[in-house]
Amino acid sequence: MKPGASLIRHYLQFKDLRAEEYAYLFERTRTIKTRFKNYEKYQPLVDRTLAMIFEKASTRTRVSFEAGMYQMGGSVVHLTTGDSHLGRAEPAEDTARVISRMVDIVMIRTYEQSMLERFAAHSRVPVINGLTNEYHPCQILADIYTFIEQRGGPRGGTADPRDCPLGGAANPLDCLRGKVVAWVGDGNNMANTWLQAAEILGFTVHVSTPSGYEIDPHVAGVRDGGSYRVFKHPLQACAGADLVTTDVWTSMGYEAQNEERRRAFVDWCVDEEMMAVAKPDALFMHCLPAHRGEEVTAAVIDGPQSVVWDEAENRLHVQKALMEFLLLGRIG
Ligand code: CP
Repeated sequence: MKPGASLIRHYLQFKDLRAEEYAYLFERTRTIKTRFKNYEKYQPLVDRTLAMIFEKASTRTRVSFEAGMYQMGGSVVHLTTGDSHLGRAEPAEDTARVISRMVDIVMIRTYEQSMLERFAAHSRVPVINGLTNEYHPCQILADIYTFIEQRGGPRGGTADPRDCPLGGAANPLDCLRGKVVAWVGDGNNMANTWLQAAEILGFTVHVSTPSGYEIDPHVAGVRDGGSYRVFKHPLQACAGADLVTTDVWTSMGYEAQNEERRRAFVDWCVDEEMMAVAKPDALFMHCLPAHRGEEVTAAVIDGPQSVVWDEAENRLHVQKALMEFLLLGRIG
């Protein structure tokens, strides 16, 4: 690890990278995924260590970062609030100063974005947002890669896991321009991050949330209405969409609101009627974990338009490309 704050790049929000950097990352993801599928060893991060700090539960984020770092030759330290001094009120600033002298990169899942920002401001090494109340950029990275994989090909995409096509397009982002993503449900960290992605990558998000759970453009960090349109009814948001996506009604940290949310969100369940008004080849995504019968029906999430398992797997591949980029810069 080399101190040198001016060279450090963090990934705290989706807007921390530019469109041309996303184009690069998606191409690198394709290469890294193809090598993985062909059982080719690729270990550019030998002797590098990732510290993962979890203040909230996780399945996909933990496994994808941990497996990804080991596959690239590095090692991992796993910390939680309960087994570290973060849970005993050691300031994020002090924790950052200490941990970043010992490891090469840090991934944090926490509550307030402000904690992540304070940690990053005092870190000597890159910090990645593994989910906060406000944003989930690694998930949207995987979601957009999955969309490109599915819809970027000359035949409309094949998503054959053996050759991991990005379609041979000159720019993997080309297939996103002008597309419509329908967000149905809570105006939460996923919704905020979709809005940031739309502004950077040139697509539109149609948002439908229950009253009282709307997007706050200030929190999302986007221009009001610049890259999204708000619809009262979820069917209107889904009409003509290229991708329909949702999330749980109650995100981690909001469990006390569970009952009132169940009542408020009852009409925001992605079902066959919503998928029927989207484009015939529309995809369905969900960051998981999912609650069948609440935010999505079993027929949709387990149906032919759902790509949720590719979406989950792609967390591994995009995050390997991201860690490689933050630690080594551009390859080749
Ligand atoms: N989608 C996602 O972040 O999953 P986990 O909460 O299991 O990490």
